[in-house]
Amino acid sequence: MIFSNTSCNEANPMSGKIDSKMITNAEIDKKIVELMAKMTLEEKVGQMVQYSGFGELTGPGAKDNDFKINKIKAGLAGSMLNVTTAKQTREFQELAVNNSRLGIPMIFAYDVIHGYKTMMPIPLGETASWDMDVLEAGAAVAAKEAAAYGLHWTFAPMMDMMRDARWGRVMEGAGEDPYLNSKAAVARINGFQGDDLSANYTVAACAKHFAGYGFADAGREYNTTEITEHTLHNMVLPPFKAAAEAGVATFMNGFNDLNGIPVTASTYLQRDLLKEEWGFDGLIVSDWASIAELVGHGIAKDERQAAELAIKAGSDMDMEGYAYEDNLGALVEEGKIDEALIDDACRRILKLKFQLGLFDDPYKYCSEERQKNDVLSPENLAIARDAARKSIVLLKNEDNLLPIKNDVKTIAVIGPFANDKNSPLGNWRAKADPNSAVSLLEGIKNAVGENVKVTYAKGVNATTGRREFVFELNVNKTDFSGIEEAVAVAKNADIVLLAIGEDCFQSGEGRSQVDINLTAPQQALFDAIQKVNKNTAVILSNGRPMPIPALAENATAIVETWHLGSESGNAIADVLFGKYNPSGKLPMSFPRHGGQMPLYYNRKSTGRPDSRGGEVVFWSHYTDEKNTALYPFGYGLSYTTFEYRNLKLDKSSMEVGETLTVSVDVINNGSRDGHEVVQLYIRDLFGSVTRPVKELKGFEKVLLKAGETKTVTFKLTNAELGFYGQGAKYVVESGDFKIFVGGNSVDLMEADFELK
Ligand code: NOJ
Repeated sequence: MIFSNTSCNEANPMSGKIDSKMITNAEIDKKIVELMAKMTLEEKVGQMVQYSGFGELTGPGAKDNDFKINKIKAGLAGSMLNVTTAKQTREFQELAVNNSRLGIPMIFAYDVIHGYKTMMPIPLGETASWDMDVLEAGAAVAAKEAAAYGLHWTFAPMMDMMRDARWGRVMEGAGEDPYLNSKAAVARINGFQGDDLSANYTVAACAKHFAGYGFADAGREYNTTEITEHTLHNMVLPPFKAAAEAGVATFMNGFNDLNGIPVTASTYLQRDLLKEEWGFDGLIVSDWASIAELVGHGIAKDERQAAELAIKAGSDMDMEGYAYEDNLGALVEEGKIDEALIDDACRRILKLKFQLGLFDDPYKYCSEERQKNDVLSPENLAIARDAARKSIVLLKNEDNLLPIKNDVKTIAVIGPFANDKNSPLGNWRAKADPNSAVSLLEGIKNAVGENVKVTYAKGVNATTGRREFVFELNVNKTDFSGIEEAVAVAKNADIVLLAIGEDCFQSGEGRSQVDINLTAPQQALFDAIQKVNKNTAVILSNGRPMPIPALAENATAIVETWHLGSESGNAIADVLFGKYNPSGKLPMSFPRHGGQMPLYYNRKSTGRPDSRGGEVVFWSHYTDEKNTALYPFGYGLSYTTFEYRNLKLDKSSMEVGETLTVSVDVINNGSRDGHEVVQLYIRDLFGSVTRPVKELKGFEKVLLKAGETKTVTFKLTNAELGFYGQGAKYVVESGDFKIFVGGNSVDLMEADFELK
């Protein structure tokens, strides 16, 4: 055995640092060399194998249990996913540690995306807070709870850039901007990993999916991606680079074919860029069977060749795929691959095990006591409530319908999501107990005193098919029968809260849709209710931007609530009653029509961006809809109003390499305290490759008391002004720039400057 202590660690997770002694990189390297000297080729390949557990599957098909158990006992599996609980991880760990020749512990991984038991808002929603402390705190809670359930490694954060709301996985990401995405990725990695991977309340994070998966053609899941070199480098890769620089422990490649090479087989991405140029020394795990899927892509004739391509390209671990275990040994023997490639992959995997402290104590995360005490604690729920209310985006608020007035007597809570305790948990909900979220109805009841009457009607169903997994196509989409009762309830209320939108299982992996509109019954419900009671606030919940032009036109108020997690109803009530002044801003453009997809603010200009003042048809536009977003990137209202004045640059021109200081006065000219997300964008007016019409390059969330003015300052350097040009070279080019500052990507003050 190569570890000394196999006892269960019951240390207090809040007691600060670690229970296992910190180990330096040099010490780790030495131990790895010693250990690998004892390993056979088969054992080294075994470390590169990751099996799914026996209950939950997060991908298609898997081999039978006995097969896996025998392999684990023989020391031929380095890691497992989808095994959870202190008890189960202990049992599997014992199989590996007590039976195999070298007793090397396994790493247990799971998709802990926005919480483990305590659910934070879905990542897209949480990013709408534009508050990186919120993201970090949420990830830290998720890590602590996951670690208490025996897990060492989360497959998060996802940092895929996304522009198409039809793609179901937009709920899992941070939206359409690389700058915001990079900040969000780093905040989440810091939250998951803390500053010590061996602490028993942190888990290794995983930057995924490297790279380009979010650009799936036509928004269809797992589809091909075609991304130009400079879009790849300027838009898609920055969050991954930021993740590598922030010390993320692992990367995951992906399912997508990128420009003709499936990323799992991409030597350029994995070896040349990530491992060589960026110096990443952690491990790259494949996505579920993505090595074997190289055969399906038609780039390998069989799994042997698939394994050869993937190992050469730099994929270190084969997730539930069997291509490595079945073929790497033979490939070495045939002389097709160098054993050094296997040694390097094995080294990276063992390194993570040492960093996690698993050689000191393979059972260190297997504490049933921590599992009982560390989850769903009042502190964790308080963090979830705070995150949820900060993620809410106020889209419309005519006649100051919100916050709800103090003299309200009757509140009608209506709609398919009004009393739903499940959907707010979101998709990718790890081990959240079903129906455990605070529903809107409960949240409102919790918030009001006895003098306020709260009434309820469901009205219509949200979806038309089965809730989980498949939405049947030929279902009756026209059940409008509950509308009459809902209208009667609405008529008698001072205010109506109408909870409509998308069920949480309409977004997530494998949930792309061609139609991202509100269903017809929900639209009809809104129309009928708005007609009888103008004091109707739409409480929209959804995992993707939705085209809601009819709501935007006719609703009195719209509150975007995503899928907000465990404390959803309480957090929405905080906002509706004005206990928290909404401060969220959209991380993704909301379209006018699904036909605008892909839609994103940081687009190129085209040679014919406008009609040149004439009525001609020959310019870049749709003949039946505007080009612009319904609600743009960065948009969100508050119960107070903010004004921007005195945009100043400290110089009107500067040399490459100097720093430009931009300042602006932000004034809260309303009667409530509130947060504003001050956003800075640039436009490089011309370059050696075409440049986006706007690019976010800074933001700051500031609290302003009613009547208060604050000066917000940004610094712009080469890092913000340069870009990847031809040949993927980073260049800072002289020329004219525009600087924009404001509260969203459209309503902006602007100034000019020249880079000499
Ligand atoms: C496939 C998904 O693409 C990936 O993100 C996830 O981590 C794995 N399945 C494991 O569940």
